[in-house]
Parts: sequence; structure tokens; C-alpha cells
Amino acid sequence: MLRDGTVFEDEHLPREIVGRNSQMNEVTDALAPVEDGARAENCFLFGPSGAGKTTVARAAVRELRRAVHGVPTAYINCWKDYTRSGVLERAAKDLAGAAVPKNVAARELIDTLQNGIDAPSVIVLDEVDQLQDPGTLYDLHSVPGLAWICIANREVDLLARLDERVHSRVSVGYRVQFDRYTVDTTAEILDRRAAEGLEPGAVDRPTLDRIAELVDGDARQAITALRVAARKAEREGLSTIPPRLVDDAVLDAEAAVRQKTISKLNDHQRVLYECIEESGPLIQKELYEQYEQEHPDPITLRGLRKTHLPKLEHYNLIETERGGDGKTYRLASG
Ligand SMILES: Nc1ncnc2c1ncn2[C@@H]1O[C@H](COP(=O)(O)OP(=O)(O)O)[C@@H](O)[C@H]1O
Ligand SMILES: [Mg+2]
Repeated sequence: MLRDGTVFEDEHLPREIVGRNSQMNEVTDALAPVEDGARAENCFLFGPSGAGKTTVARAAVRELRRAVHGVPTAYINCWKDYTRSGVLERAAKDLAGAAVPKNVAARELIDTLQNGIDAPSVIVLDEVDQLQDPGTLYDLHSVPGLAWICIANREVDLLARLDERVHSRVSVGYRVQFDRYTVDTTAEILDRRAAEGLEPGAVDRPTLDRIAELVDGDARQAITALRVAARKAEREGLSTIPPRLVDDAVLDAEAAVRQKTISKLNDHQRVLYECIEESGPLIQKELYEQYEQEHPDPITLRGLRKTHLPKLEHYNLIETERGGDGKTYRLASG
């Protein structure tokens, strides 16, 4: 049944990117100046979870690296590396090849970057709305030759947090919008993935269509569901996935994706999620009071509303509703 399980992992970069030609073209156009030795255009990729943003960014960088040998590139997930020094350290290591000792001042890291890069280079800042200090973009902007691909769910989550002077400098660039996949494209993505990762004939097209119909245009959910269904069938000793397994597989996949997302939450997001899980639905004031009690080092409500609460929503962990008392937060029903 399963020929290669790694094909279904989130990190797997498929050979072919399905149904994202216009987005791929926009990003490769932005990077094209590097082929002539010039700085690329900055670009911003926006859209919901599972819409292929990370995949398109990585595929565009893969193409660039094939065209231009040795171009320095870096990939940083700002959900994981969310501090200014964390991002600058990774950038200095990956782009300037610098050996970075621990606890170096930001200024020094910026100097390392400014002096250490002597050719056009590209940095992917994934989940960039999770940066603790969005002014980090300004630091990177000051590095000659460096261009970025910034990825976030929505433009406001990122750029509304910048003060005006920084905003006017760093907001220049291509905007590339990603919408949810159609059912057809989702099925096509699944078809290619099945060809890469499953034994021939392990799944038929109507079964893939059925998965695609259930996942609301989210390729991550779809691919996870296909893997879950294949495992279930394998456990039953079958060599093809029977349609009756699909609905359960989709539910299990939702739970698996949610669990993985929860494991990536930072401590503010985790405390918020746990408060809502334990005592939701909560209005904003109640939620904030509980969060303040539970978190050893709480930040302001404003801070929570700018980055952490929207993130929980974008990842379909919580739902909000606007009522007479302001916003109410509850666990997503999914
Ligand atoms: N156009 C596509 N073609 C093939 N696979 C895709 C495509 N878009 C997304 N995927 C797959 O779906 C999953 C989620 O995509 P990803 O790029 O991580 O979404 P996002 O970053 O928007 O949340 C990944 O496993 C990825 O390989
Ligand atoms: Mg992503």
C-alpha cells in the first residue's frame, strides 16, 4: 500500500507544483533579477493554511538555485525562530556562512550580514506574522543584495504592526495571494501524491475526489487524510483504499493536523488555547484575566490580539464570534 511514507510529510517538496502557475510565475519573476547579478524584488505571500504558500516559496527557491549556482538562500520559520536575535543569527549563519557565537548583539549580527554577503541572496521568512519584533524586517532590509519572500496568512497581521517609518520601507514588494484550492485541484494534488507515495492502483480517482470534497481546499488536510486512509487499509490487509474508510480518515486527519499545530504553539498561544479549552466560550475580558493568571510572564491584551489570537484562529484551533459583549472565543468545532 504505502511505498514511501516520507512523501506524505509536510516537509516533502513535491517534484511538480499543481495548480499554482500564476503564483509560481509571480515569485520566480520577483527572483529573476538574481540571474543577472542584481537584487531580487521582495515579495509577500498571503493566504490560508494549506494553500501551498510554503511549497511555492520553496519551489521558487529550488528553481533559482538550479539557475544560479551557489546563490545564498535561507529558510526561517518565524513561528520557531521568533526573536530578532534568533532570526538574525540564522540569517548570518545560512547566508554569510558566519560562525556565530552565542549571545552576540543584534548590531553585530547585522554588521556580519552587511559585510558578509557579496552577491544577491534570498531569505524566506515563513509565518512572518509571528515575529516578536516586526522591526526585524527593517534590519534585513538594510542588508545589501538581500531580498525576502515573506509568508503570512493576512497582510494586516504583518504590516499593521509596523510603525509608519518602517512600514513605508519594508512594505514595498510583490503581493501574491493564495486562495483555498478548488476540489478539482485538491484531487489532482492527491493524485500526484498517490503516484509518488503509494503502490500503483492503491487508490482510485473517485476516492480521491471524495477526500478532496471534504477538506475545504486545504491541501495539508487532504494529504494527511490520504496517508491515514492508506494506513487504515494496510492494517486491514487490503491493497486498495475502500471508499468507506474516507470519512473517518478525514476526521482523523483533522485531529492529527490540529495536534501537530498545538505542539508548535508558543507559550502565550498555548496558555490561551488551554484557557479556552478548559473554560470556553470566554469573552475577551474573561479570557485575558485567566491568561494573566496562568502565564508567568503575560503580555498585554493588545499584544495577544495582534499576533497570538489571530494565529489560533488561522490554524482553525479556535473560533470567534462578535456579540454585544465584544468578541467571544471558543474551541473550533471542526
Ligand atoms: N500546488 C501544490 N502541489 C503539490 N502539493 C502541494 C501544493 N500545495 C500544497 N501542497 C502540499 O500540501 C501541504 C501543505 O502545503 P503548504 O505549502 O505547507 O501550505 P501553507 O504553507 O499554505 O500552509 C504540503 O504537504 C504540500 O506539499
Ligand atoms: Mg506554510
